[in-house]
Amino acid sequence: MGKLEGKIAIVTGSGKGIGRDAALAIAAEGATVVTVARTQSDLDETVKMIEDAGGTAISLSRDLTDGEQVADMVKTVVDKYGRIDILVNNAGGYPKEIYKNIEHQAIKIWEWSEEQWDQIIKTNLRIPFLVTKNVVPVMIKQEKGDIVNVSSRMGRIASQMGAYAVAKGGIVTMTKTTAIQTKEYGIKCNAVSPGIVDTPGQRVYNHSVGQDGCPMGSSKDVAKAIIYLLADSPAVMTGQSVDLFTTV
Ligand SMILES: NC(=O)c1ccc[n+]([C@@H]2O[C@H](COP(=O)([O-])OP(=O)(O)OC[C@H]3O[C@@H](n4cnc5c(N)ncnc54)[C@H](OP(=O)(O)O)[C@@H]3O)[C@@H](O)[C@H]2O)c1
Repeated sequence: MGKLEGKIAIVTGSGKGIGRDAALAIAAEGATVVTVARTQSDLDETVKMIEDAGGTAISLSRDLTDGEQVADMVKTVVDKYGRIDILVNNAGGYPKEIYKNIEHQAIKIWEWSEEQWDQIIKTNLRIPFLVTKNVVPVMIKQEKGDIVNVSSRMGRIASQMGAYAVAKGGIVTMTKTTAIQTKEYGIKCNAVSPGIVDTPGQRVYNHSVGQDGCPMGSSKDVAKAIIYLLADSPAVMTGQSVDLFTTV
């Protein structure tokens, strides 16, 4: 019997990378996983991997920057399963358009264009906000729920990554706000903040900024931390970031 047997879990950005490994790990613990991203072929692959391992999953292709598509995604899950026990707010990243004309990751704060800034905030802060906004009312009705937000080392330290670091720092604050505002309804909300992790998105980024071969952690380790928060962490643990990088 898995630690999350019978639960219904939404994992955003689970077409690849950290989201895919989180989806696989959550399904391996017995939950039914709703995989969400834009690219249907990636989602099909994730669902097949889960099913091949004996788990249960469905896919919903949605652009999560769009409030209507987020609302529709949540309604589809509630109509089908009647509840949402787990939300992993993982979708995000550093879109290619941001760094295609630069040679390193450090864009000075005064050199960001308004469009670049808005795009990063939209992908990394608007998505988890919209998904939280639509899922929490469902969890409040259930008086139960678990949320894990995916932040980053970049949101935990002084970082050169401008809007991305600001968005990821914002996720930590959003985690704390969500935690204090939902505790009375039996909902926990925590975050994981990984260092550099080997994922398709990170590899494309590394190549573009000339840092191929940099040391990277494993997305399976991030998934382990997510399982810890969902299944093993103490009931009083909410509003926290589990930092998955070396601080010394
Ligand atoms: N890799 C790292 O080093 C690292 C470190 C710390 C934190 N993180 C964070 O971890 C998360 C996952 O990163 P990753 O490296 O696994 O990224 P990845 O390999 O690029 O995968 C990102 C996933 O998010 C989905 N996504 C992106 N924009 C979306 C949108 N508008 N609507 C729906 N889905 C969307 C992508 O699918 P589609 O493009 O098909 O929509 C994809 O499935 C991100 O929040 C990232 O900031 C990553």
